[in-house]
Amino acid sequence: MMRPAVVAVLLSTAACSTAGDPPQSPGANPAARTGNPPGAADQPATRFELPADDPVDHHSCARPGEVHTVHLDLDLALDFAAHRASGTATHTLFRTDPQAPLWLDTDGLEIETVADERGQRLPYALGAADPHLGQPLRIDLGPDTKQVVVRYRTAADAEAMQWLQPEQTNGGTKPFLFTQGQAILTRSWIPLQDSPAVRITWSASVQAPADLEVVMSASARGGGNGTGRTTFRMTEAVPPYLIALACGDLQRRELSPRCAVWAEPALVDAAAQEFADLEAMVAACERLFGPYRWGRYDVLVLPPSFPFGGMENPCLTFATPTILAGDKSLVSLLAHELAHSWSGNLVTNATWRDFWLNEGFTVYLENRIMEQVFGAGRAAMEIVLGMGELRAELAELPAQDQVLHVDLQGRNPDDGMTQVPYQKGAALLRRLEQLFGRDRLDAFLRSWFDGHAFTSVTTRTFVEFLQRELLARDPAAASQLDLGRWLSAPGLPADAPESQSELFAAVDQALVQFAADQDARALPAQAWVTQQWLRFLAGLREPSLGQLAALDAAWQLTRSTNNEVLCAWLCLAARHGYRPADRRIELFLTTVGRRKFVKPLFEALLARPDGRVQALSIYRKARPRYHAVTVRTLDSLLGWQATDR
Ligand code: BES
Ligand code: ZN
Repeated sequence: MMRPAVVAVLLSTAACSTAGDPPQSPGANPAARTGNPPGAADQPATRFELPADDPVDHHSCARPGEVHTVHLDLDLALDFAAHRASGTATHTLFRTDPQAPLWLDTDGLEIETVADERGQRLPYALGAADPHLGQPLRIDLGPDTKQVVVRYRTAADAEAMQWLQPEQTNGGTKPFLFTQGQAILTRSWIPLQDSPAVRITWSASVQAPADLEVVMSASARGGGNGTGRTTFRMTEAVPPYLIALACGDLQRRELSPRCAVWAEPALVDAAAQEFADLEAMVAACERLFGPYRWGRYDVLVLPPSFPFGGMENPCLTFATPTILAGDKSLVSLLAHELAHSWSGNLVTNATWRDFWLNEGFTVYLENRIMEQVFGAGRAAMEIVLGMGELRAELAELPAQDQVLHVDLQGRNPDDGMTQVPYQKGAALLRRLEQLFGRDRLDAFLRSWFDGHAFTSVTTRTFVEFLQRELLARDPAAASQLDLGRWLSAPGLPADAPESQSELFAAVDQALVQFAADQDARALPAQAWVTQQWLRFLAGLREPSLGQLAALDAAWQLTRSTNNEVLCAWLCLAARHGYRPADRRIELFLTTVGRRKFVKPLFEALLARPDGRVQALSIYRKARPRYHAVTVRTLDSLLGWQATDR
C-alpha cells in the first residue's frame, strides 16, 4: 500500500514548542481538511494539500492526498428478505493528482458496475482481502472524470448492518435494520474512503417497505409518508464512520423545538419521559463549549441487540434501550453522545490512534454536562466509578495498550476501545483543569472546538495547540505537567487528580459493616441511588453464597429493573456460583446484546470451574441474535469454533 510521505509525530511538549502550524495552502478543500490552524475555515477552496502532519491512517487504503470524495450520493433499496441493500454510491471527486486512480475501501461488497458521470464504464479492480481492512477497490479515472458511480450490493452478513427478525424487536411483528459504522465498518455497506480524515457531505434516497420508517444521521429528511422512499441530506462535512441508517416500526415524540426521540411505539412514551432533560443538556453544553452546530439533536432507541450503549451519529444519536431505567439514572450516556457533537463530530480524530481525542474529551464534557443538569454530587460519583473501571482494566491490559497515543497498526481499531482513551483521556483534561483553573480550561476547549470545527485532527495538532494556547501562557503551571508521560507512558500518572465522592463515603462504611455482620437488612440502602449501588456491588470482594443470598432476599437484586445494577449483580452471582440467579442470567444474555454487559457476564461464568459448559450452552442460543461486533468479541473470549454451533 503506497502512502504519502509521513512526518514523524513528536509528542513531547519541548519538541512542539516551536513547531507552529504548517502553512495552509490557499484553497484547501474545507470538506477534507485535517488539523488546520484556527481561522483556516474561512479560506476559499480551490486546491487541496495535506498539512505537514498528514496522518497515516493504517486502517484505510484511501489516498486522499491524490483524489478524494467531497460529496457522496447514495441511492439504495433495502431488501429485508435477502438482508441486502443494493443501488449506487456516486462520488463527486476533488483530484489533486490528475494521473492517480481512486482508491476506495470495501468489505464484502459485490461490485456490479463502475461508471463516470456520463455513464461511461471505468476500469476497476478489487485487491486482496485483508482480515481487518476488507478489500481495496481501485478505479481508473479518465482525464476529465468528475464523478464515479459505483453500482453494488451489500453482503447478507455485512458487519455494519444488523437485520433483525420481528421477534428481536419490542413489538414482535416487524423487522428492523440498523447500521453501525465506527470504527471501520462503513465500508461493508458503502464503497468509500473509510478514513476519519476524509470528510464528506452526503445525500441519500432510500427505498424500504412502506410500513417502516427510515431514519439517518442527516441534517434534513424528506419524503416518507407511506411512499416507501425517504430522502436525506447531510450538509456538514462528516467522516464516513458517522453515516448511519435505521429502519423499523418507529414513532417519534418531540421533546423541544430541536430535540425528539424515536423508538418503537410501545417504548416511545417511556423514552420521552426518561429523556425529558435532553434540551437542558444541549443548552448546558452550549453554555460551556459554544454553539450546537448541527441543527436538530434527536435520539433513536434501538432494539436490545445494539452492541453499544450509544453511538454519536450526527443529529441522531443511536442508543441502547437498556438505559430506560424509569428514573433517569442512566442518562449520562445521552450526555456522552451529545458531547460528541463537539468532541468527535465537530473535531474528529484523524486516525484511530487519536481515538482518545474523541473519547477522552467526550467523557470530560459528559461529566461537565451532568454536573450542570444533575448536580455536583451525581457528577462526582460518576467520575469515581469511571476511574474505578479504568484501574480495574489497567490491571489486565498489556503495557502497550495502556497509553493514550496507542499504536494500532496491523490490528483491529476495536482493540483500542478500552477504558484508557475514555477515562485516562478525561483524567488528563481534569489535570489541566486542576493546574490552570476551570475558567481558563473552558476558554481553551471552546477555542479548540471553534478553531478546528469540521476538521479531523491528530494528537500532534492537539499538543501544538495546547502548548501554544495554554501551557506557554503559564509556564509555572505547565512545569507541573509531564505531557509526554500522559500521552505515551503506560499506567495512570502519579499526578492524576484524586476523585472523591461524599455520597460514596456512606456506601464504603456500609461495606465494612456488612463484611463484619452480614446483615443485609441493616444496610442503609433504601435511599441509595443507582451509582451508590454500583459502588457497593463493585466493593463486595469475594462475597460468600450466604451473603449473596441475604442481599438478594433483602433487596431483590435478581429482579432489579436497572440494567447497570442488574448486570453488576449477575456478574457477582455468576462468578461466585449463586445459582438462584441462573435463569435471570440466561434470560439477560439471550435478550441483551450490549457488549459492555454481555462480555463481563460471560467472563464471570468462565471464572467458575464448571462455568464453561454453562457459558457455551447459553452462547449457542444467544449468538445468532448478537451483532457482529459482539460476536467477534465473544467468539474470541469463549474460544468458539464453527463446530460448537
Ligand atoms: N463512539 C462510541 C462507541 C464506539 C466506539 C463504537 C468505538 C465503535 C467503536 C460511543 O460514544 C461510546 O463511547 N459509547 C459507550 C458509552 C459511553 C457512555 C461511554 C458505550 O457504548 O459503551
Ligand atoms: Zn463516546
